[in-house]
Amino acid sequence: MEIIVKDLTFTYSKKTKSLAFRALSGVSLNVKEGEIFGIIGKTGSGKSTFVQHLNGLIKVQKDSGSIIIGDFDLTDKKCDYKLLRAKVGMMFQYPEHQLFAETVYDDVAFALKNFAPDLTEKEIESRVREAVTITGLNYDLIKEKSPFDLSGGQRRRVAIAGVLVAKPEILILDEPAAGLDPKGKREFLELLLRLKNDFVKTIIIVSHDMNLVAEYCTRAAVFMGGEILATGTPKEIFSDEMLIEKSGLDLPLTASLTEKFKVKGVAVDSDLTVDGFVESLCRALKGGKI
Ligand SMILES: Nc1ncnc2c1ncn2[C@@H]1O[C@H](COP(=O)(O)OP(=O)(O)O)[C@@H](O)[C@H]1O
Ligand SMILES: [Mg+2]
Repeated sequence: MEIIVKDLTFTYSKKTKSLAFRALSGVSLNVKEGEIFGIIGKTGSGKSTFVQHLNGLIKVQKDSGSIIIGDFDLTDKKCDYKLLRAKVGMMFQYPEHQLFAETVYDDVAFALKNFAPDLTEKEIESRVREAVTITGLNYDLIKEKSPFDLSGGQRRRVAIAGVLVAKPEILILDEPAAGLDPKGKREFLELLLRLKNDFVKTIIIVSHDMNLVAEYCTRAAVFMGGEILATGTPKEIFSDEMLIEKSGLDLPLTASLTEKFKVKGVAVDSDLTVDGFVESLCRALKGGKI
């Protein structure tokens, strides 16, 4: 399913003039099936407001642009939001705050029953087992545990299982690694890649981690003040000095190193993935530049 957003504008508290706040202005964006697409930009730039539109958590306001996702037209009053939310799964910021059931099993099963009320208990069990296992957790060890007895990283994986159990084609992750320790982050990244290879077609990821964006994203959009400043590959974005300065984004480590080598007279021209950077550096050095 391709995502086509045209000229999307959104105002919080639109009906109360004194409180009204425009969080998105004229946002247009296409995300193709198969992408890992990054949404980046400072806090308050409109990233969460934008992604919450994509599964109908926030509705497109009247005369405020359009969103088409596959066959779903989100400006159509007849849009089937329940089906949309099964196809476009979304994990919020700090998803563990949404876990509420007494056991991991109940929590993940609840999400599924919501989408597929006609499944038998046996079918539900098999779907829950599959979703929990995909996230790298040991289903039999964890299914009866309380979500509150798990580590932060484990809780987050249970939350992802609750999204995956509906078998979404598009997975939206809003700052999925925020607040995790380095090990939790690493494990999360491995999970992300596994999901992309085997279980979902498209991933949209809101992240402050520019290393992650450089390493994994096919493209990204830079948000600022509710608008998209630029869209491009990590290389296009991080080599645009004016854009980086204006948006206040950090550079991924590979881009910082590229800069430092340039000052030393070594031209490294890579896609900014770690492997790509090392390859290009080796080529530059073997070229006899130093
Ligand atoms: N429920 C809300 N009511 C009013 N303003 C909000 C609400 N949620 C977010 N905002 C404002 O909208 C802007 C964009 O917020 P958000 O989409 O959460 O940004 P980001 O995810 O990039 O940090 C911010 O200025 C924020 O304060
Ligand atoms: Mg946010």
